[in-house]
Amino acid sequence: MELTPRATTSIWRRTAGLPHLSRLERNTQADVCVVGAGIAGLSIAYELSRAGRSVIVLEAGEVGSGETGRTTAHLANALDERYFEIAHRHGERGAQLAASSHTQAIDEIESIVKREKLDCEFERLNGYLFTQPGDYQEVLNRELEASHQAGLHEVELISRTPLAGFETGPCLRFPNQGQFHPLKYLSGLAGAVLKMGGSIYTNTRASKIQGGAQARVETSEGFAVTAGSVVVATNTPVNDWVTMHTKQAAYRSYVIGAHVPKGSVTRALYWDTLDPFHYVRVQADSEAHDVLLVGGEDHQTGQAHDTEERFGRLADWALQRFPMIKYVPYVWSGQVMEPVDGLAFIGRNPGDEPNVFIATGDSGSGMTHGAIAGLLLTDLILGKENPWAGLYDPARISLRSAGTYLAQTANTIAQYADLISPGEINSPEDVRPGAGAILRRGLHKVAVYRDQEGGLHEFSAVCPHLGCIVSWNPSEKSWDCPCHGSRFDALGAVVNGPADSGLKWAQ
Ligand code: FES
Repeated sequence: MELTPRATTSIWRRTAGLPHLSRLERNTQADVCVVGAGIAGLSIAYELSRAGRSVIVLEAGEVGSGETGRTTAHLANALDERYFEIAHRHGERGAQLAASSHTQAIDEIESIVKREKLDCEFERLNGYLFTQPGDYQEVLNRELEASHQAGLHEVELISRTPLAGFETGPCLRFPNQGQFHPLKYLSGLAGAVLKMGGSIYTNTRASKIQGGAQARVETSEGFAVTAGSVVVATNTPVNDWVTMHTKQAAYRSYVIGAHVPKGSVTRALYWDTLDPFHYVRVQADSEAHDVLLVGGEDHQTGQAHDTEERFGRLADWALQRFPMIKYVPYVWSGQVMEPVDGLAFIGRNPGDEPNVFIATGDSGSGMTHGAIAGLLLTDLILGKENPWAGLYDPARISLRSAGTYLAQTANTIAQYADLISPGEINSPEDVRPGAGAILRRGLHKVAVYRDQEGGLHEFSAVCPHLGCIVSWNPSEKSWDCPCHGSRFDALGAVVNGPADSGLKWAQ
């Protein structure tokens, strides 16, 4: 199927109405400085403001310009990692806490929507987990039992999903899930934080983050925020150089948004159990049509070269099951941090001062993990007990995840082989307009981008984080690092950490 437009475009940007904020242009102070204005950062700022703390939020781009603007915004306590896996890795009590925390996260988002009267299309709906014919007894039965043991007693095995014309076979129904418009929600959260006296500065990059008696966040413009505590909520922590990046891996996930006749697909959340799996939901759009969001085709960041073909495969999968699709106006991809043991890292930054906190490892549940971060980190900063603290502690070690940890470490080490491999092209002349490729020039690898006007831009292909060789992502027109997920735009500016600076110009 022909996908249009070719440029990646998220459905959310069109209608969000986000506030226009200014950059920080003076030194200032607050009880807490939050770095990052996505769902985690603004949830934390909101909860702390409600608790009477003064808060300053610093955001390198605009509110929601990171991964919250790229989610499909499933609000679910049905976890991708499967409850039987979480119980295996974290014990039965851990699975119960995971279930209750995600359930409470959806409840908290609903409470905030009501309290602040946010117009963000929040709704409750069912979630359906289905699988391939033949193996449902194995996976679905195990997950049904594990969900009940985790406290989700209303989960049930039913004969099929409510999708007309798409015979999914037996599935698990998770009641009382949710969905919303993520950027409208963020816009409302930002407004509520401002109303309570908090400050949000955009286009303000935190360049140095230091804990201690007087925590300090410096910006790349040379200003500083001093605070009692600092929270780094930047999808992957930009204040941690090594430790946390060995505990999680960055993945790209792909989404198409297709017009379908209004009401033709039952509104619900849907997931299959393939690896990588597909995720589906419906977004209201106009009187005439809804937008069917279909995601999947995940791969480790920087480790696949068929990024454009992945949209085509998603469209084919969708068309076979939803033949009413006429047109695909939106295609985009986003980044997901997959923790080695399946649960987010929310708490004190390991090896750092006790007043430096992080929220990362969203594992495809970024919206609920963001809300959990808001509740959990507020308690930790206020010195209150929270039953989830141990489960989400970034310093935790799960011996039952040692195999995954070692495999991920081996994968990262293998990426360094690109330092000595040949280039992809022999000459910059081989690069088409709008494309990029890696060239070997003597001992150096050079990232070569040719802009649409034919101008050449050459950078060192060495990632400034820990020295892996970046690779060209043709769908997002970015340079992606295969080791820990740093990304840079076509002109070398940093898009995703952990790198804290752009690619250097080639010598
Ligand atoms: Fe770590 Fe590039 S992200 S080396």
